[in-house]
Amino acid sequence: MKDLIEVTIIDKDGTSNTLQIPTGISLSLMEVLKGEGYPILATCGGMALCATCHVQVIKGYEKLHQPEDQEWAMLDTLPNYTPQSRLSCQLKIDETMDGMEFRVMGEDNV
Ligand code: FES
Repeated sequence: MKDLIEVTIIDKDGTSNTLQIPTGISLSLMEVLKGEGYPILATCGGMALCATCHVQVIKGYEKLHQPEDQEWAMLDTLPNYTPQSRLSCQLKIDETMDGMEFRVMGEDNV
C-alpha cells in the first residue's frame, strides 16, 4: 500500500507539475488542485453541478470508475468536452491515481 502518489497536472498555459499527494486524505482531486492554487472555482462545492473543475485525463483514463449520471449530464454541456473529460470533484484521491496525468480545463474567468 502506497502512502504517497504522484500525479502530473498540466496547467492552462502548458506548464506541467508533478504533485505528491498522500493517499489517506480522503479528498477529491478538485480539492487538491484548489489547495495547490490551480484556478478552479468549484462554485458548486463538489456536487458535479458547475463543471468549473473540468479536467482532461491525459494518462490513465481507463483506471477511473465510470462517471455517474450527474457527472455525465454536466460533461455533456461543456463546449470544450473531450472523450477523456472528467469532473475532478468526482474523482477521489486513491492509489489507483498514481502516475496519472490531468490537464486543467475548467473556466476561471471571473
Ligand atoms: S466542483 Fe462543481 S462540478 Fe466539480
